[in-house]
Amino acid sequence: MNFTSCCNHDDLHEIPFVSALLDLKKKMSTSVQTLPLSRGKSLKSPWLERAYRDLLGDSILDLEFTGAGEFLDAFFFPSRSLHQAEQLAATLFGADGTLFVTTGSTSSNQIALDAFQIAGARVLVDRQCHQSIHSFLNSARCDLDLVHPSVLCDEPDQHWWDLDDLLEQALWQQKSGNHYKLIAVNGHSYNGLIYDIPMVIEYLLQNGVRTRNFFVDETWAIGNYFLPQLASGTAMRMESLLKKFPDLVVVATQSAHKSMSCLRQASLIHYKGNGIRPILLNSRFKFHTTSPNYAILASLDLGRAQLQVEGTDLFREVARLAEKFSKSIQTNPHFDGYSIQTPRSDFIQPRHVRMDPTKIPLNTTRLGLSPLEIKRKLFEDHGIYVSHTTESSLWFHFHIGWNEEAVEQLLSALGKIAARTKRSCPQTLRSPVPLPSNRLDVSAKPISNPYQSNKEPSRTDSTVVSA
Ligand SMILES: Cc1ncc(COP(=O)(O)O)c(C=O)c1O
Repeated sequence: MNFTSCCNHDDLHEIPFVSALLDLKKKMSTSVQTLPLSRGKSLKSPWLERAYRDLLGDSILDLEFTGAGEFLDAFFFPSRSLHQAEQLAATLFGADGTLFVTTGSTSSNQIALDAFQIAGARVLVDRQCHQSIHSFLNSARCDLDLVHPSVLCDEPDQHWWDLDDLLEQALWQQKSGNHYKLIAVNGHSYNGLIYDIPMVIEYLLQNGVRTRNFFVDETWAIGNYFLPQLASGTAMRMESLLKKFPDLVVVATQSAHKSMSCLRQASLIHYKGNGIRPILLNSRFKFHTTSPNYAILASLDLGRAQLQVEGTDLFREVARLAEKFSKSIQTNPHFDGYSIQTPRSDFIQPRHVRMDPTKIPLNTTRLGLSPLEIKRKLFEDHGIYVSHTTESSLWFHFHIGWNEEAVEQLLSALGKIAARTKRSCPQTLRSPVPLPSNRLDVSAKPISNPYQSNKEPSRTDSTVVSA
């Protein structure tokens, strides 16, 4: 069923799960099974009902019903509307198949890793992966080796591992006669450092690495699929490699709510390769809540439909707005207290690394205010919330919710903060002084395995910071 047939919308947009849900909602007057909150029926006092409805609106309460199985689709092993919705998502991202998850990417990561059946196996894992990955591999008692970033650029906060280090580690492991059963990497950091995944895997396999299972955390990478300069580096772009290595399996997880018009905890697991689907479905059955949230599932269907129709335009616009912001900071004298933080000129970006043009670090050192002070002023005086700061910069993460007005509002607020600071403290405008931490270190800098040393993974890891 398409949207036109159930909602009289002008455009023909296929949203199979949403359509099935709306049909079911119309038909169902009472569910005697569960969910007392359904349609607000458990709210007997008017004040309480008012408070719920003021906060959540009518529609959320109306969606709190359950009609699983034959009336909608089976969440764990779908074959109808949900399966269609997942297939549409798979097609959009170029995957062989996709699974919807309503419990966040923390749980998608566990599901995906479990599907590789790696309990006790040797696994090579990127040190910069999210804590959910380290925790899972640790509790599965995997024999872990970590890939450490060897190039450290603190400003902007970008660290990456060297491709030859990865290859050397994988080949070294093979010398013992035992290859890694899985290689797990963080494909796109919170601060916009992106690995070209097809290039990385091809390099490893063509140089004799026997590992055939790859896991990629693409939590932040959804926009890359729609930006021509980044799409070729995404984890699902595996067609040509799969022809050469038909036993290759790649699974990627994405946080839909971080980049799409989806509710929080909406997450996607995509896969490419043979034989992994039934195991992934089983792993979802093992780890996912047995009460999936319909509103989140519906938002995955809607968010996918939106990107199918206008994803390229939307993400190009995001990149344009980010560029406009950077150019204004660089060229308008109002903003001479700020600068866009760029890596030092001797910092050479290798071919397997790319930068996300929509993540912008704003250096504030010349203004004489710390990023934290500016963050506070932006919020208290202008109602603008910024989540991430480093020693010298505030990070602006542009996404499809931004528009021209939001950029203007941000620039105007930054301009006012700069003008006030200069008025009250004219000597503050300093020439940029390289920060002591601004370094390029091309020698390997070992970071200890948090589990071998019984330490928690560092909370300051860029990948641990939540949206
Ligand atoms: C790289 C990475 N992976 C996984 C996650 C977990 O995602 P979620 O918060 O949806 O569970 C995050 C959260 O920020 C993340 O940055």
